[in-house]
Amino acid sequence: MTGQPAGPEPAPVAVTPHGTYNFCAGPGTLPRAVAARVRAEFAGHVRDGASVVEISHKSRRFTALLEETEQRFRRLCELPDDHRLLFVHGGARMQCSAVPLNLLARSPSRTAGYVDSGLFAQQARREGARFGRAVTVASSEGTGFDRIPEVDPRRCPGDAAYLHLTSNNTVYGTRWTRFPEVRAPLVVDATSDILSRRLDLGRFGLLYAGFQKNLGPASMALVTARSDLLGHALPHTPRLLDYSVYASTRSLDNTPNTFAVFVLSLVLEWIAEQGGLGPVEKANEHKAATLYRELDASDFYVPMALPAHRSVTNIVFRLADESLTGAFVAQAADAGLLGLAGHRVAGGVRASVYNGMPQEGVAALAGFLRDFERRMG
Ligand SMILES: Cc1ncc(COP(=O)(O)O)c(C=O)c1O
Repeated sequence: MTGQPAGPEPAPVAVTPHGTYNFCAGPGTLPRAVAARVRAEFAGHVRDGASVVEISHKSRRFTALLEETEQRFRRLCELPDDHRLLFVHGGARMQCSAVPLNLLARSPSRTAGYVDSGLFAQQARREGARFGRAVTVASSEGTGFDRIPEVDPRRCPGDAAYLHLTSNNTVYGTRWTRFPEVRAPLVVDATSDILSRRLDLGRFGLLYAGFQKNLGPASMALVTARSDLLGHALPHTPRLLDYSVYASTRSLDNTPNTFAVFVLSLVLEWIAEQGGLGPVEKANEHKAATLYRELDASDFYVPMALPAHRSVTNIVFRLADESLTGAFVAQAADAGLLGLAGHRVAGGVRASVYNGMPQEGVAALAGFLRDFERRMG
């Protein structure tokens, strides 16, 4: 793609046919304006004669984009100055390896605490156990992960290098609202609620989030880390899993996914246009409340999470008559409401309502919930 002059940005157009909404848990829906700007980049409106994926990651144009993206994220999330922002490879699961490799050496007994709130939390703990002692400090497995477990700080080992938790549980539809007070730095997997709400990032020693829900295309992760936690990687840590390498090379030790960074820059621009994270959070709460209200109004649907623990981004429920679940998902898809099947370990139905899901999509799903119950109830 070369030689095309920059042109005016086209009006945003729907990424899906009119009236079709994607509730997939991830990769998930991007704001439609972002998708339109991505298309424009590849439809001839390229700057400097090449699109963003056709230039050097060390070029002035890309490094300026990276810098602008970092500054936008810092502003929107009020990331404190003593926290680094890194763009790393391998999505969220790779961070389940990188976190113990980078932090465990800070504990004389190579111990870390993990809060078990569902599938991804368990995967993180299992990976941590490959490098040291990974202690389950609290778990809600006994109640089917319908809540965030209560953390008794005394159960977190005194010399733990960190306490790991998952701020939003994508599979079971629960989220933290108050984070535990423990001596160890908190390490938070925020893959499915990053940028969906305001989080006090200064409260966390380290936060990681795979890109594929609210940030952009999969296989990259964003990491924020308190500076003093970096530089203690275990001796055999592979170079590209060592966070201090990303910190000292501005995430450019090797070639990052330049397309993902570009999409993230547009997502952050879009959030700023919405007025910042406050209004985005409010819109998300409104969308979730619309759906929970509908579910709570009927015995036909059974939300899986306890009310005080409910996720705003992943709304998970069963049909009281579970034999109707397949028909629900299939008929919803016929009606243009896509990606509603629950995760295979939880079953049921899951509506993922990330930043990109417009209120009209939620209203369409609320209407379908009523219609399906009227016909099948
Ligand atoms: C909370 C959470 N953590 C981790 C992951 C795994 O992400 P990845 O596929 O980027 O490794 C997911 C995936 O959806 C997730 O929702």
